[in-house]
Amino acid sequence: MTTTPPLQHYLQFSDLTASDYAYLFERAALIKRKFKAYEKHHTLCDRTLAMIFEKASTRTRVSFEAGMYQMGGSVVHLTSEGSQLGRSEPIEDTARVISRMTDIVMIRTFEQARIARFAEYSRVPVINGLTNEYHPCQILADLFTFIEQRGSIQGKTVAWVGDGNNMANTWLQAADLLDFTVHVSTPGGYEVDEKLAFGARPPRAGCYKVFGNPLDACRGADLVTTDVWTSMGYEAENEARRLAFADWCVDAEMMAAAKPDALFMHCLPAHRGEEVSAEVIDGPQSVVWDEAENRMHVQKALMEYLLLGRLD
Ligand code: CP
Ligand code: NVA
Repeated sequence: MTTTPPLQHYLQFSDLTASDYAYLFERAALIKRKFKAYEKHHTLCDRTLAMIFEKASTRTRVSFEAGMYQMGGSVVHLTSEGSQLGRSEPIEDTARVISRMTDIVMIRTFEQARIARFAEYSRVPVINGLTNEYHPCQILADLFTFIEQRGSIQGKTVAWVGDGNNMANTWLQAADLLDFTVHVSTPGGYEVDEKLAFGARPPRAGCYKVFGNPLDACRGADLVTTDVWTSMGYEAENEARRLAFADWCVDAEMMAAAKPDALFMHCLPAHRGEEVSAEVIDGPQSVVWDEAENRMHVQKALMEYLLLGRLD
């Protein structure tokens, strides 16, 4: 008989503990090995994932959908335009209904408060597939990718170059929890918001440092990472951002300032010639394709964990 773990959501990175992450990274490695060997891993037979997209997606959609089918489950895909959400049905009512028919829900939306409201009214686990504030599944994949390539991230330095956005906030939460340091360099006016990253309590001392010059942020880093200058939902600021971020393009000079074996990551989609040069993203230090693939492996481990708890 299967026992069901207590209801747990994954709305931000800080929702799980360091011990949970250690388990998930090991489990994702096992799930990935089995996938590569064409071995069945049907731990979620007869389970249904509902995916709600209120913003565009390529990787998140494919990784969750393919991942759920690979575990023996099935998927329902909704968008705001194609559902009653687009005709103002309250998110609370949507949560009550969807969570009576499915076993787990992934949502990509705008404000974090919206997914938090959905979770409050949901009978089943809710996963954040990106909000304006956080992107925890992406950082889960990025950390797994780093560990695969270089071993433990504890004590390492990650350089964040660019917008103080959902990705940056989530990196800070991860650094606080998993004992590494983030060097953050953003243009003025686009800084990270400590309250979003850490809430009311102070972060672990030394978990992040701010640099005015992106080159300084990259010095000695084990990983250099960036993201689009304009995130989804902020398109009206495109021109202003293009001007403000002009010096925050990760290029060969920045990579040369990092450690010789530093990795480059980008959650994608990328704009070559804006936040990263083609030479860097298509160069030997870039692991962006592994990073994208690993979304699927870590999310399979995450869904299994939220639905079944820790397995041997
Ligand atoms: N990185 C990421 O979340 O990609 P998508 O927007 O394509 O899902
Ligand atoms: N910061 C980006 C990430 C896209 C995956 C956005 O929110 O649009």
